[in-house]
Amino acid sequence: MNELFDAYKDHRPILHYSVPQGWMNDPNGLIFQNGWYHLFYQHYPDGLQHGPMHWGHARSCDLLHWEDLPIALYPDENGVIFSGSVVADAQNTAGFAKDGETPLVAVYTSHKDVDGQVTQSQSLAFSCDSGYTFEKYAKNPVLDCNLRDFRDPKVIWHEESKQWVMPLAAGRKVMLYSSQNLRDWHYLSTFESKNPTPEGIWECPDLHLIQAEDGSCHWVLLVSVNTPDESCFGIQYFVGNFDGCTFHSETPEQDVLMLDFGIDNYAAVTFNGVSDRVILIGWMNCWYYGDQIPASTFRGSITIPRELMLRHTTSGWRLLQQPVHELFSAFDKFSLYEYMESALPQEPLLIAVQIRAEKETIALKNEKAAFVIQTDTVAKTIRVDRSGCGHEELGEAFLAIRTGHYFSDQPLQLYILIDVTSVEIFAANGEAVGTFQYFIDEPFTKISAENGNTSYSISQLKSKKSYSV
Ligand code: FRU
Repeated sequence: MNELFDAYKDHRPILHYSVPQGWMNDPNGLIFQNGWYHLFYQHYPDGLQHGPMHWGHARSCDLLHWEDLPIALYPDENGVIFSGSVVADAQNTAGFAKDGETPLVAVYTSHKDVDGQVTQSQSLAFSCDSGYTFEKYAKNPVLDCNLRDFRDPKVIWHEESKQWVMPLAAGRKVMLYSSQNLRDWHYLSTFESKNPTPEGIWECPDLHLIQAEDGSCHWVLLVSVNTPDESCFGIQYFVGNFDGCTFHSETPEQDVLMLDFGIDNYAAVTFNGVSDRVILIGWMNCWYYGDQIPASTFRGSITIPRELMLRHTTSGWRLLQQPVHELFSAFDKFSLYEYMESALPQEPLLIAVQIRAEKETIALKNEKAAFVIQTDTVAKTIRVDRSGCGHEELGEAFLAIRTGHYFSDQPLQLYILIDVTSVEIFAANGEAVGTFQYFIDEPFTKISAENGNTSYSISQLKSKKSYSV
């Protein structure tokens, strides 16, 4: 048995970070400090389902090779540890520094359930050894409004108003708070969508300044949307401005902008501590079926890290997503195939596809499974059908065909990233991006296209050494 077949047996990706054991959901506390990208995450180490949550921890220097570190936060008397963020408190505003080292401060939700009576409040923990160990703040919680849905603080430093700003998900709203010292928080404003947002709750807000291709910068608010009737699941975004108090959306009211046309990218948030680009990581799963996906020792992985940018289109501002450049340098040079069908080498694979026909059907196949991508350059759509990979038991949301839309008039190019349990499609320079899990027992062996003039360039990882498998 080689490494790839072992990975398939365990449904464990090679290139994507996956939790060593137990359950994982949202990425938390993404921060770059002293040359390390830290990934904390929602973690239940003792089971394969969501349970009493902890914060797991891993770090990487290139966003691809991850080193597991000890669990960072354990449940305590204030509750279990739900999602949140980490900031580097270089000015020591909270006063947690010891020996002059910049403390990392985790701001997270304490979730308390007393006989079904749920309250969520915000708490702090700090680390003076670069995130290796954390100490809880003795006066937790620091913000408690006795609310049931009041969670997922994503703290940023807002330079113009010289304050910490914290968006929180509160039902179907985002509430913004500010602080000078991370301990005392003041209410700023509430953002509610005027857009025809699907019913359901919002989670994991993320407010970030993002640069557009024309050099202008705009504030983007991401929210993860989860509707109980399974009609909408994913990440919605609004583009606008933030004046230090209120976020004003400029996204036209009729538009519902979704970050990903797949259904396996949720709770995605951006890194703090990175100044020259905006890097996003999501939980590569879906609450509708996430705790039923095949698993024996672990359940949970992340999307490939992506860089966000804005483009102005005739329909307004749109987010573009591309895999981080580190991904491209990890792969060998592309080799070009111009056939209708090509054999696939061993995964992980990054395939660039140049579409020349008006309608094209691209299939990834082995003897038992097919994953089908259909493109239409007139309608400007990409349609993905993973039902040929089985697992009817995961339900309609898993089996449904999903369609992404792009807007550019340029010839259509796709990047397809394949890694044991997932296909991620980056189309039209990141205008349409789809994240899809699948669970099959053996690797795909072929890629095919219906039209002869479509060409693929297939590339493999330079070296698999030290990717966690
Ligand atoms: C999103 C979420 C968050 C919450 C966490 C609990 O997936 O529901 O709102 O903090 O997961 O694990």
